[in-house]
Amino acid sequence: MPLFLLSRLPSLFEVLYKMSFKMAQISLVSRHREVYEPCDDSFALVDALLADRNNLLEHHPTLCMEVGCGSGYIITSLALMLGQKAAGVHYIATDVNPHAVRVTNETLEAHGVHAELLATDIASGLEMRLAGLVDVMVVNPPYVPTPQDEVGREGIASAWAGGENGRRVIDKILPIADNLLSDKGWLYMVMLTANNPSEICLQMREKGYAARIVIQRSTEEESLHVIKFWREFNTQSRSKEMMTANKTVPARVMQESLVSQFPKSDIFSHGS
Ligand SMILES: C[S@@+](CC[C@H](N)C(=O)[O-])C[C@H]1O[C@@H](n2cnc3c(N)ncnc32)[C@H](O)[C@@H]1O
Repeated sequence: MPLFLLSRLPSLFEVLYKMSFKMAQISLVSRHREVYEPCDDSFALVDALLADRNNLLEHHPTLCMEVGCGSGYIITSLALMLGQKAAGVHYIATDVNPHAVRVTNETLEAHGVHAELLATDIASGLEMRLAGLVDVMVVNPPYVPTPQDEVGREGIASAWAGGENGRRVIDKILPIADNLLSDKGWLYMVMLTANNPSEICLQMREKGYAARIVIQRSTEEESLHVIKFWREFNTQSRSKEMMTANKTVPARVMQESLVSQFPKSDIFSHGS
């Protein structure tokens, strides 16, 4: 074997070894003081994607997107878990914080995977190019209820500040997601009980989306949900969803049961 190939062997081996993981390794996730480090919400989202991995593989996504990529832990994990089994998938990630985009690039590189990265507000500049094309969108948004004027500040503050009910950024993302998702598109979003997830589901229902909770975790301070949305007219994905969520319940009933999983006060308290 030529010497130059021999000298490359360890790094080639290293890359293949790293790519054999099904999620990003915390020790390989890059850091920056102004960038959100993977936390319980990030882990919940990756666990939700892992729990849905077989469906994701059968879904054959062409374009996967993350809004608000932070350290890159999520988009890297998604690329690794779909891996070689879903060849030809294109990954795009955005973040309003330019440090996050740099850190995500380092995290992707450290794991031997690739994504197109853009420092932008949600998907600004991508609407025309990506409209109706995104098959999988993942979002762990800034969802913490804060004073409105904390939303959109530079740096790490943009990672959590969600304004009234923590909904300021979420409410901006949902119509954009609706525009970018393909007919078979799936949206996975992290939210808190304080964000009024049942109301979000009802809003999405009006746009034609069904929803189910993939993961729900409660700590003393908060109750986290990872909710998956998909267009209900897509009978193929609906029946796949029904198989996963409940083999006999019709979609409308499932949606209602999803709503009933949140306290009733959530449904009526928002904005009152
Ligand atoms: C809770 S952090 C999640 C980071 C990472 N996805 C994770 O789960 O570890 C939210 C991320 O969204 C980004 N963000 C906040 N507002 C945004 C916006 N308007 N457009 C794009 N990204 C935004 C923040 O900079 C931050 O990186």
